[in-house]
Amino acid sequence: MNIRTMLHLVVTTFYVTAVLGAPRRDPQLDQHWELWMDRYNKTYHEKEEGWRRMVWEKNLKKIELHNLEHSMGKHSYRLGINHFADMTKEEFKQIMNGYKPKAEEKANGTFFKKPSFQKVPDSVDWRQEGYVTPVKDQGQCASCWAFSATGSLEGQLFRATGRLVSLSEQNLMDCSRSLGNHGCDGGLAKKAFEYVYTNGGLNSEASYPYLAKDNPQCSYNESYNAITIDGYAYIPSGSEEDLMEAVATMGPISVAIDASRDSFQFYQSGIYYEEDCSKEELNHAVLLVGYGYSDQNYWIVKNSWSENWGNNGYIYMAKDRNNNCGIATDATLPIIL
Ligand SMILES: *[C@@H]1O[C@H](CO)[C@@H](O)[C@H](O)[C@H]1NC(C)=O
Ligand SMILES: *[C@@H]1O[C@H](CO)[C@@H](O)[C@H](O)[C@H]1NC(C)=O
Ligand SMILES: *[C@@H]1O[C@H](CO)[C@@H](O)[C@H](O)[C@H]1NC(C)=O
Repeated sequence: MNIRTMLHLVVTTFYVTAVLGAPRRDPQLDQHWELWMDRYNKTYHEKEEGWRRMVWEKNLKKIELHNLEHSMGKHSYRLGINHFADMTKEEFKQIMNGYKPKAEEKANGTFFKKPSFQKVPDSVDWRQEGYVTPVKDQGQCASCWAFSATGSLEGQLFRATGRLVSLSEQNLMDCSRSLGNHGCDGGLAKKAFEYVYTNGGLNSEASYPYLAKDNPQCSYNESYNAITIDGYAYIPSGSEEDLMEAVATMGPISVAIDASRDSFQFYQSGIYYEEDCSKEELNHAVLLVGYGYSDQNYWIVKNSWSENWGNNGYIYMAKDRNNNCGIATDATLPIIL
């Protein structure tokens, strides 16, 4: 082979590789892509767009296949496109994994015992009783633990006073580090309760707004204190029965789940059951606000990924199916006597 043919071969090979390596887009989806970018206010640099479009198309395909299977009876829930559709698994992990259990995690607190005279109803939805604030958005920050904590604090405050006041996640993130929480790098609701208890209060959302980022300074101001608590309680680990009694008699409960599956990222409606879910490897903290029954038992769960995610920000999760996704593994609530 002379140098000329060799050069030709090298050039051709390079050209072929370059063409194959370019993002492949389905031109039929051009309009849908525009529509989606518009709906979720997405803008990209010219060079980034091809890549984002590929990720989006891949997620779209997954969602379509799942929904096709759903229509043939394989799943009890549907997926849908949302603002996470251009995110890779790695990027999604940045907002996930906000629940950080530690070996030394046996904090103080007490065990929950249902008041013995109370009968547990067939269904409960604390949203309808005024216990629950609108769905919030944690943004690109693994602060789910703080949102889960404010959710059950807001519920207990309403229960005690009849006033619904949105409480400050940023206050928890900035000020509970010494108790083992890590702001945008994760934490635990029970350590947030420990902070509120020892600090003697927590500021309202309005006086201490959410920044979706770590703030080196704790800016708690006693003049804007919105709540004090008398302690917190654990629900016996793994018992959906006890969890049901707790949510029915007390109000919203802070829970943790395994939310690491694609199916969770794009959940839209129906009752979420994921056989690949772990009961022990929990990574996301959310708020349990009730339960009910349609053709299956379900838990009503508030997430903190805005109303654009899931069912207007909520997810209905399988109940009494062997603690699916670990919903009853680490449940806690603050106590106001
Ligand atoms: C997109 O931006 C508009 C105007 O700033 C805002 O009203 C709307 O809520 C935004 N939509 C989303 C999904 O963030
Ligand atoms: C707390 O807020 C009050 C009322 O706005 C203000 O006078 C005071 O200086 C604030 N305290 C701190 C420590 O920032
Ligand atoms: C937990 O233990 C610490 C250290 O013993 C104590 O200061 C704190 O008051 C306790 N918290 C509760 C909620 O009892």
